[in-house]
Amino acid sequence: MTDTTSPADLRLRDCPNWTYLLREFDVLYRNGTAGGSPSIRSHRKRVRDRLSACVASNPAILSRPHEVKPVTAHFARALDLGERSAMQGMARALREVRGDLAWEYGYDKLPKALAQKYAYCEVLGPKGPVQSDGLILGFVLFAPATTYPQHSHQDIEESYISVSGAWSENDTAVYAPGSLILNRSGDEHRITTGELDPCLLAYAWTGAAGRLAEPMMKLTATRKAGAITAKSRGPY
Ligand SMILES: [Fe+2]
Repeated sequence: MTDTTSPADLRLRDCPNWTYLLREFDVLYRNGTAGGSPSIRSHRKRVRDRLSACVASNPAILSRPHEVKPVTAHFARALDLGERSAMQGMARALREVRGDLAWEYGYDKLPKALAQKYAYCEVLGPKGPVQSDGLILGFVLFAPATTYPQHSHQDIEESYISVSGAWSENDTAVYAPGSLILNRSGDEHRITTGELDPCLLAYAWTGAAGRLAEPMMKLTATRKAGAITAKSRGPY
């Protein structure tokens, strides 16, 4: 029998590996705890409600060419660490789609120091590969000893869940695999990662469809860095 399904016709139910990866996101946002925080509880519910609605609609798959960046040389190590942690289900599901991930920077003008040390890939959102208007899901990968400069997002709520590696936000704590951080609209945040191993974070963005289609972030100018201005559609 000939397979007559062309890439243009692909839907989520034709792609078990994407389906299983999204199921791992659902598990994280459904079974984890909000730690007693009403804001985190409502964010988690928003993510899983939008994800459930998206999956139920059997959305289109917008295949994107596989792309790598210098930091993806650390990806295998990040997955290996994740598979040995509480996040093994997510790490294993992510491994199955690794050849279909489009790693990108997202910047009009990338801060030079970051070119070797970070990239992100989306797995669900307006640009696909799983098409959705109301939610973006993806992963960000940082090399060891990376500082991601202080920034904020307008009209977007962002959560990170650690898949592997150790990282800190705003020098206030160290987060291990399974930890969740919520950054609300306008919250300033700066990320640092551990010295020895890469850090892989799953992320979710919620916001109005128009904002998710054209997200903007603002890097905060600091005295040390000078007046940094950069436009990015990336999540960090
Ligand atoms: Fe961010």
